Amino acid sequence: MTTEIELKRGLQGVYIDRTQSSFIDGAIGKLLYRGYSIHDLSEKATFEETVYLLLYGKLPNRKELNDFDAHLRANRSIPPEIVQIIRLIKDAHPMDVLRTAVSALAAYDPDVADNSLESTLRKGVRLTAQAPTIVTAHARIKDGKEPVEPDSNLNQAANFLYMLFGKEPTSAEARLMEKDFILHAEHGINASAFAARVAASTISDLHSAIVSGIGTLKGPAHGGAAEEVMKMALDIGEESNAEQYTRDILESGGRIMGFGHRVYKVEDPRAPHLQAECEALGEQKGQPKWFRILSKVAEVMEPYASRGICPNVDFWAGTMYHLMDIPKDIFISIFAMGRIPGWTVQVMEQYANNILLRPLLLYEGPMDLEYVPIDQRE
Ligand code: ACO
Repeated sequence: MTTEIELKRGLQGVYIDRTQSSFIDGAIGKLLYRGYSIHDLSEKATFEETVYLLLYGKLPNRKELNDFDAHLRANRSIPPEIVQIIRLIKDAHPMDVLRTAVSALAAYDPDVADNSLESTLRKGVRLTAQAPTIVTAHARIKDGKEPVEPDSNLNQAANFLYMLFGKEPTSAEARLMEKDFILHAEHGINASAFAARVAASTISDLHSAIVSGIGTLKGPAHGGAAEEVMKMALDIGEESNAEQYTRDILESGGRIMGFGHRVYKVEDPRAPHLQAECEALGEQKGQPKWFRILSKVAEVMEPYASRGICPNVDFWAGTMYHLMDIPKDIFISIFAMGRIPGWTVQVMEQYANNILLRPLLLYEGPMDLEYVPIDQRE
């Protein structure tokens, strides 16, 4: 008896569970973290406050925030053995290095085998604090420089830029980075969060789940888009080339990176925040051309909005990083650093009401073939 099977390729439109972490309405471009608008959080909150909100489910009061922030700052160091591993694999892509270092950090985490919610939260906080130390140590070692120790006088975003460049950023630069971290902190069951949840659903530990998330985020269809957009802008070179370049890609059936989203069918609500920053920073740095090039690309893409293909968060992010002199190959790592709190929340929710994530595949190959001994095969 054959039953009608409905394939949901790519799990499109499939709800796999409930969440209290973020709400996304892709039809109107709405994003809330724990009920709070991404517009308010990105403009008014700090990254530390946002992480607290995501992990604890409420905005902290002053004392709670101070304690939490102090805890984050106190957990930024990584063991010298991890720095040694980074040195050994320094020529690898920064996301491969981050993935490997997070995996290795499990060996040094006192809570590694404890999957209780309290322990998972503690590990999530430590990984949030440690990820920038890994990324910046690698960026510097790769450039023949020594890593810069974290500075506990600086907040997460300022400290990241300090460890990367070896000098304190201006408050405007630090705020820009902070805004970027907030905008990337959580986004429901996107591909990397799904991967993290799949790992957690087997009752594997947080480090394994975050490693799955990092590996999944790396692809250009997900976190890799910011880097690809900047490569495109550099390739275009001048505003006058942008229109033809974009049309050539589209006519050859290619995709414009930083456009389109599985859920948003209007503009990604995170995008305008970075668009405004990208424009202002370009003017301030005397390099308005990158913003103008991307604006031209966006103009050519306007008719695609009717098909739900609009700018996503990564369309402007890459140019903003470029204007901040951040090397292209760590763009995805910045996304990952911001997203660790979101992955942690997703894993905690999975543990709290676990069910093994195990969908089905419809087999379409041959059936019941006769096994032929190897010497008798052609
Ligand atoms: N440029 C041109 N056409 C596009 C684009 C794009 N960026 N994105 C989608 N399309 C077209 C596809 O060609 C397809 O057309 P068709 O129906 O004629 O074949 C249609 O839109 C649907 O595309 P799918 O890939 O089926 O849609 P899906 O929801 O699976 O894709 C994705 C979402 C992967 C993000 C896609 O839009 C894409 O590849 N974008 C470029 C990469 C990118 O920017 N990724 C970052 C995503 S945001 C994030 O992760 C933070």
